[in-house]
Amino acid sequence: MSILVTGGAGFIGSHTVVELLNAGEDVVVLDNLYNASPESLKRVEEITGKTVKFYETDIRDRKGLDDLFANEKIETVIHFAGLKAVGESVYKPWEYYDNNITGTLTLIDSMRNHGVKNMIFSSSATVYGDPKVVPITEDAGKGNVTNPYGWTKWMLEQILTDIYNADKEWNVILLRYFNPIGAHKSGLIGENPNGVPNNLMPYITQVAIGKLKELGVFGDDYPTHDGTGVRDYIHVVDLAVGHVKAIEKIKENVGLEIYNLGTGVGVSVLDLVHAFESANGIKIPYVIKARREGDVATCYSDASKAKRELGWEAKYNIEDMCKDSWRFQQKNPEGY
Ligand code: NAD
Ligand code: UD1
Repeated sequence: MSILVTGGAGFIGSHTVVELLNAGEDVVVLDNLYNASPESLKRVEEITGKTVKFYETDIRDRKGLDDLFANEKIETVIHFAGLKAVGESVYKPWEYYDNNITGTLTLIDSMRNHGVKNMIFSSSATVYGDPKVVPITEDAGKGNVTNPYGWTKWMLEQILTDIYNADKEWNVILLRYFNPIGAHKSGLIGENPNGVPNNLMPYITQVAIGKLKELGVFGDDYPTHDGTGVRDYIHVVDLAVGHVKAIEKIKENVGLEIYNLGTGVGVSVLDLVHAFESANGIKIPYVIKARREGDVATCYSDASKAKRELGWEAKYNIEDMCKDSWRFQQKNPEGY
């Protein structure tokens, strides 16, 4: 039996495929390559010395999905495929709802028609909205999100919960990621954003390599230790290993479970800038700008449930994340 990884050519997906293959799992990857290059899977093969079975298919392509499930013996789907650019989702809401919601509904329907009822879903800490208490536990309750991308995660969590409630043969694990950064130690795979990055770490690495002049720090008047926004940055390899643990868990017929995947450590924008500077010996020029709309002051996890129930905890620290992000950027100045 195999694991189907949708969006497996992307940033988190490619790292997860490496860890699954290293753990001896059989893996099938589906991706429409909208935000990925086939090169990432070649690099996965180089890292692992194993061949990756790949379907270039869209999750909205019902026939493509039916053919895949007919050809392969899939036990569990790890579902990464989706659009994820927060800002873009504000002016392209239809595209986000169509890709993420219609796509996932099509995938679920094809799965159940082929008797596949185990899903691990990529959710986000964004579903908590502006948290009332930190660190955030899974039972904190969902909040108001501020953009269509976030609503797709919020709604898909609800949809998967309702699917499970209606048919208890399903096993669903919702993984709420905090802020994934870093890259594989080899420097062969990593985050490869299109255009000017929206997220902090890829922006920093592009300043470091000289593609961008300086970092804009969005606000220094938040109620945090240095006034800049605090987040829970997690190494993408730790996140990938979290999925291997979730695969072990789902085999126990878990029903419906939710896990935070974070480090539990809050790091501010300026903390990250300074950590990057000292880890890599490079100065990152920055200017303070206005707050970015929709940002919260502080967001970090209580990840003790994942430790207790999955036997998982993050092992890489901020220095590792800074070094590994920079290694990938240096080795791949123009991306894949
Ligand atoms: P990514 O864009 O690198 O990976 C997503 C992959 O899905 C891409 O390879 C893309 O080509 C593919 N894809 C998109 N739409 C598809 C479709 N309709 N059919 C088939 N393939 C499709 O993003 P990522 O950072 O690896 O994120 C993976 C998942 O984790 C996403 O669902 C994302 O929303 C979620 N997530 C990411 C973060 C983050 O900070 N990176 C945080 C929380 C949650
Ligand atoms: C954002 C999304 C979140 C998504 C996550 C991963 C919002 C409101 N949230 O999280 O839904 O899951 O990305 O894709 O957009 N910052 C700067 N300058 C920059 C970029 C960022 O100061 O150029 C600051 C931000 O204000 C924030 C921190 O860095 O305080 C982290 O930002 P980012 O990497 O974009 O992640 P989030 O905003 O936490």
